[in-house]
Amino acid sequence: MLRPKVLITRQLPAPAMSRLGEVCDYQVGTEDGVLDREALLSGVRDVEGLVCLLTDRIDREVIDRGTKLRVIANVAVGYNNIDLAAAQQRGVYVTNTPEVLTDATADLTWALILAVTRRIVEADNFLRAGKFDGWDIDMLLGTGLTGKTLGVVGYGRIGRAVARRAAGFGMSVIYCGRDDIAFRDDPQHNALMMARRLGIQAATGPINQSARIDGLAARRATFNELIEMADVITLHVPLAATTQHLIDRSAFGRMKHTAYLINTSRGPVVDEVALVDALQSGRISGAGLDVYESEPDISDLLPGMNNVVLLPHIGSATRETRTAMAMIAVENTIDALSGRVPRNVV
Ligand code: DGY
Repeated sequence: MLRPKVLITRQLPAPAMSRLGEVCDYQVGTEDGVLDREALLSGVRDVEGLVCLLTDRIDREVIDRGTKLRVIANVAVGYNNIDLAAAQQRGVYVTNTPEVLTDATADLTWALILAVTRRIVEADNFLRAGKFDGWDIDMLLGTGLTGKTLGVVGYGRIGRAVARRAAGFGMSVIYCGRDDIAFRDDPQHNALMMARRLGIQAATGPINQSARIDGLAARRATFNELIEMADVITLHVPLAATTQHLIDRSAFGRMKHTAYLINTSRGPVVDEVALVDALQSGRISGAGLDVYESEPDISDLLPGMNNVVLLPHIGSATRETRTAMAMIAVENTIDALSGRVPRNVV
């Protein structure tokens, strides 16, 4: 029987490659880094499956070139690198890798929260620079988290996992979800939210004042309330038209001066120029970033600032998680090429 052909844009962990090899003939685009555009365009021409990374731009040109394509399996939960409409028009499945990276990303979010509020990187640099000449009562003072409010923007799997961890730090949680973000400037939506808050029976049915999700009491807020009230604002939304520059100059203008912004979602959710201004001017206290607007390029000004912790997009970067992500992408590919509907179609 003819084995389906697959292009893997970049070498993946060995267990995933050997599982794919049981069912398909595959070629690997590159051992490391990002597959060059021309190689991607020619490599996709003859294959039925494409396993790709978030750094691969799978736009209409690539999809049209892959006339035999039946599945595009992204090794990531986010899929903003893929032209979904183009794939759907051609009847090509697009899949992602949810769930397995939830805990790793939530843990890294907390690493950033703690690093920026307790000035961990700055303190480490201070010591390495030979500046530690003894304990001092006001040396490198940070901000405590106990009793403060965590604002979770985007309450999907990762947002909820971040929220669950807040209990361990004595923080209360407010959150807003997809509708609160999409309709953030809609007075009707915000009025309905307010009505719910006050416990008034809304025309649409019974009202909950707070959500108890996974045993966690978290209060839903409008986007603007969250931005104004939270001491730490953490972003967990996909990149879409409704979330591009969600955190813009006006959002920074509403935040507390003492607020910290954490972004482990996608860089373009934050207007990076406005962020730099907010950090430089003291409009907010600090930021912890794992993603950037024009990744891998970042604003020249960010590395010179002490009130920001900068990571190179490592939210899901544990060996276990990356292997699990690759395995899921491969299983999705095998399913699609074996005539089954893949588990993680987006
Ligand atoms: C994803 O999966 O979307 C992350 O950004 C990469 O781990």
